[in-house]
Amino acid sequence: MAQRTVLIVGGGGREHALCMAMSRSEHVGGVHCAPGNAGTSAMATNHPVSASNVDGLVALAQTLAVDLVVVGPEAPLCDALADDLHTAGIPCFGPVKALAELEGSKLHAKEVMGIAGVPTADFHVLGPHSDLDSALDDFSGHPWVVKRDVLAGGKGVVVTSNRAEAKAFIEASIKSDGKVLLEAFLEGEEASMLVVMDGSGFVCLPPSQDHKRAYDGDEGPNTGGMGAYCPAPVATPEVLEKVVRDVVKPMHTYLSSQPTPYRGVLYVGLMITDEGNPSVVEFNVRFGDPECQITLPLMATDVYEVLHASATDRLAELDVMFHDLHALTVVIAAEGYPASPVKGRLISGVPAPTGMAWVNHAGTGYDEGGALISTGGRVLTCTGLGSSLAEAAVRAYALLESIELEGAHHRTDIGHRAL
Ligand code: AMP
Ligand code: GLY
Repeated sequence: MAQRTVLIVGGGGREHALCMAMSRSEHVGGVHCAPGNAGTSAMATNHPVSASNVDGLVALAQTLAVDLVVVGPEAPLCDALADDLHTAGIPCFGPVKALAELEGSKLHAKEVMGIAGVPTADFHVLGPHSDLDSALDDFSGHPWVVKRDVLAGGKGVVVTSNRAEAKAFIEASIKSDGKVLLEAFLEGEEASMLVVMDGSGFVCLPPSQDHKRAYDGDEGPNTGGMGAYCPAPVATPEVLEKVVRDVVKPMHTYLSSQPTPYRGVLYVGLMITDEGNPSVVEFNVRFGDPECQITLPLMATDVYEVLHASATDRLAELDVMFHDLHALTVVIAAEGYPASPVKGRLISGVPAPTGMAWVNHAGTGYDEGGALISTGGRVLTCTGLGSSLAEAAVRAYALLESIELEGAHHRTDIGHRAL
C-alpha cells in the first residue's frame, strides 16, 4: 500500500511538518525534501536543490518519479514551478504562476477581490505623480497602512501613526517599485483560515492565529511568526459562516473559473471586526509557517490523500475529517532575529517526539563534525496538542525546557488572547 513517493519543496519548520505528516501516511513509501533541514533528514531524503531553483526541482521530481510535489514557499510558485511540473505531468500541490500572483502582487489580490466581491480594506494605488498628502488625508485618524506591491518576505508592509514615516515609506516604495498601496486601517482581531482547494471543491482547515511581533505582549518588530494556535476562538461558528459565504466561496468560484484551477492551499489572512465581520488582510498561496505546524496535525484524514486529491482535482470525492483537539506552537528564534540573526550556533537537548508534543526543525543543519547547529532566524518550533488550548500550551512549553541554544529567544505568551 505504501508505495507513493512525495517531494516536499522548502527547508523550514513548515516543510518539516509536511515531511512528518507524509511519512505517517499509509500511502507514502518515500519522502524527499529539497533542500530540507536537519529535522527533515530524519524522515526524508534531503536533496541539495534550492527552493528557488525551479528547473532543478522539476528535474529532481522527474528523476525521482514522484507521485506528488508539495511546494512549501511562495517564491517558486510565483516563478512557475507548478506550471512546469504540470507540463512534465507531475501532480503539484501549489497553484500555477498566474494564481500565485494573489500573493505576488497585493494590487492583483485587491483587483481579484473587487471582481469576486470579497470584503477588504479600501485603498489607493500611488505612483510618481500621485498627490500623497491628499491620499494620506483620506485615511487619517487611524494608523496608515502602506504595502509594497512586490514579494518582500514579510518586510513589505508598514503600519504607522507617524505621518512622516508613512510618507517616507510611500516615497521609497514608489522609487523602487514604481507604485505602492495605501490602505485603510482595519480594526479588530486577526485570524487565519487555510483553505485547501481545487477545481472540484474546497476544505477549510480549523482557523488559527499567528503572533507576528517578536516580543511578548505583541511588542517589537514584525517577524515571519513567533508562534500560533488552533482553533482560534475569535472565529466563532457565526464568523466562520460569514468567512465561507463572503470570502471562501466567492474566491473558489473565481479561482475555479480560471484556465487552470487553484490546486493547493489558499491562506486567507483576516481581520475580524468587533461586530464579527471578516475582511481580508492578505492572501498567501501556501501553508503559513508556523500555521502549518498546528493545522496539519489536526487533520484526521490521511494528509497525502488530501493533498494529492487537491493536486489532481478530486477533492470533492473526499470527506475530510479533523481531530477534536487544540494545537499550539512556540518558535525558538536565534539571537538577533528578526533584524540580524546569529547563525552557526550549537543546539542541544532537543527532546524526542511523543504522540502529543514534538519539535519541528526550521533553521537547522549539521556542521562538518555532525553537530546540530542553527542556520536561520527561526530555528525550532515546539508544538503541543491537547484536549484544551491550555493543555496544548503546557505540552508545547514543556518541550523548551531542555533545549539549549545560546542567545535564543521565544515568546512566553502564545495563545494569550484565547487562554
Ligand atoms: P500583510 O503582509 O498584508 O499580511 O500585512 C502584515 C500585517 O500588517 C498584518 O498581519 C496585519 O497585522 C497588518 N495589516 C495589514 N493590513 C492591515 C490593515 N488594512 N489594517 C490593519 N492592519 C493591517
Ligand atoms: N505566519 C505567517 C505566514 O506564513 O505568512
